[in-house]
Amino acid sequence: MRVGLLTGGGDVPGLNAAIRAVVKRGEGEYGHTIIGFRNGWRGVVDGFSLPLTRQHIRNQLAVGGTLLGTARYHPHASDGGLDAVLSTLESERIEALICIGGDGTLHAASKVAEAGVRIVAIPKTIDNDVWGTDQSIGFDTAVTIATEAIDRIHTTAESHNRVMIVEVMGRHAGWIAATSGIAGGAELVLVPEAPFDIDKIERFLKHRHRAHASFSIIVVAEGAVPAEGTSMHYETPVGKFGDIVAGAIGERLKAEIERRTGFDTRVVVLGHVQRGGIPTPVDRILGSRFGVAAIDAASGGQSDVMTALRGERVEMVPLSEVAGKVKYVPDELLSVARALA
Ligand code: F6P
Repeated sequence: MRVGLLTGGGDVPGLNAAIRAVVKRGEGEYGHTIIGFRNGWRGVVDGFSLPLTRQHIRNQLAVGGTLLGTARYHPHASDGGLDAVLSTLESERIEALICIGGDGTLHAASKVAEAGVRIVAIPKTIDNDVWGTDQSIGFDTAVTIATEAIDRIHTTAESHNRVMIVEVMGRHAGWIAATSGIAGGAELVLVPEAPFDIDKIERFLKHRHRAHASFSIIVVAEGAVPAEGTSMHYETPVGKFGDIVAGAIGERLKAEIERRTGFDTRVVVLGHVQRGGIPTPVDRILGSRFGVAAIDAASGGQSDVMTALRGERVEMVPLSEVAGKVKYVPDELLSVARALA
């Protein structure tokens, strides 16, 4: 059987582990030919592909990024995109397509499945907000990197008696902020799920610095927003397409905190550092498990499904139930972060 494989959306550490698992299991167990498409859906539209063999995946397990390349391109959102996808899949004689991606890629995958293509998806995103799975590939590495950064920021914050704002990724959900905030012992964790009250933050910081500490660490997800009616001096800039501007909420908080408290404040935007470099063992293992499960499912004739971690097990969930939904941070996790502030 000829099986297509692509990675779409933002890269994450652990993608190569999944690619390796698909190729090793696909070739070794089933004798499939694995056709890799370059740069996500863009490569399918352009017919930019290569047969993936064991040679391509040698020594890739511990390498970050994706050996296939990726792009933020969604065929269902552009004119003729879907038709071009179907035509390439037909000319390449692809019988099943494995798509590794976050919300955008999975949404496109479900549209292609609706058109009759056998699709098996694998969730990846450092934001960990794909619905239906306990964890997505890349999240563990991002939390590890963010936690190490917070540990390092602690010593300089204390030495300089500063408020340090650490902005982490997380557009719609604050998984990285909540978990790295707990692991790194942050004083405040601000997430999109719970709009913040700047008056409370001001009172908290003044009280803390008066009472017993001369420094504070605030971890903020890039998608965090002030509560409605909160009066803040500075506006958050919005990107050209209405998207989030990296560093914007961190800078806005800094300006507001300095104006209200007079405390020396700095912002550290972790940005793409969270997505780069060596995957943790957890992400290598998750990528490997999802890769094996995906090729097994495709070989067994399953379609329109996504691999999902459910407790200890990897299961398949219907892709149509996943696409378009966001998995938010549960209250329990947020209340731990608050309880330990
Ligand atoms: O989708 C994951 C993510 O890492 C977000 O948290 C972040 O906002 C975005 O990607 C950044 O995207 P880009 O690499 O396109 O700037």
